[in-house]
Amino acid sequence: MSEQERPLTPYEILGEQGVKDLATTFYEVMDELPQAADIRAMHAKNLDQIKRMFSAYLTGWMGGPPVYQAIKGTVCLTDPHEPFRIGPAERDQWLACMDEALNRVGASNELKAMLKEPMFRVADTVRNCDDSTPRNSGPDIIAVG
Ligand code: HEM
Repeated sequence: MSEQERPLTPYEILGEQGVKDLATTFYEVMDELPQAADIRAMHAKNLDQIKRMFSAYLTGWMGGPPVYQAIKGTVCLTDPHEPFRIGPAERDQWLACMDEALNRVGASNELKAMLKEPMFRVADTVRNCDDSTPRNSGPDIIAVG
């Protein structure tokens, strides 16, 4: 496919500032939505730093320069999420924040459709358990001997 025929990336559609706005709006939504209260509680009170890191991540993930990779040396999200219990309910709260953030920044239906599957996949990759019961609710390992 020639450069001219290539579909635009989400980064090209939104632009550098548009991606930053999406990341910022995402956490504003998380801060406001009652149904996102569980995942909001996992985050620091002040969201400035995570807004910057998420913006850096989304920039590369959406086809722009690999800003997050340049800072962290990896794009793997397993370690930063490891301390938190993220099941299907938490994943779906996260996706609901992203849907609302895309609405608020005025993303086109075309862009929303383009992002739907990949957003689900990346959120489901961050999921690190199958349910949403508290991590310390019972023994994970039965000691033998
Ligand atoms: C599936 C539900 C998710 C939950 C509940 C969740 C929650 C969290 C929490 C609690 C933190 C730590 C924040 C802090 O240090 O204050 C974090 C960090 C982060 N999350 Fe998520 N997250 C989810 C999915 C995602 C997804 C899908 C992405 C990317 C598309 C993402 C990108 C990030 C980034 C870039 C950081 C910062 C990591 C760093 O400091 O290097 N998260 N997330």
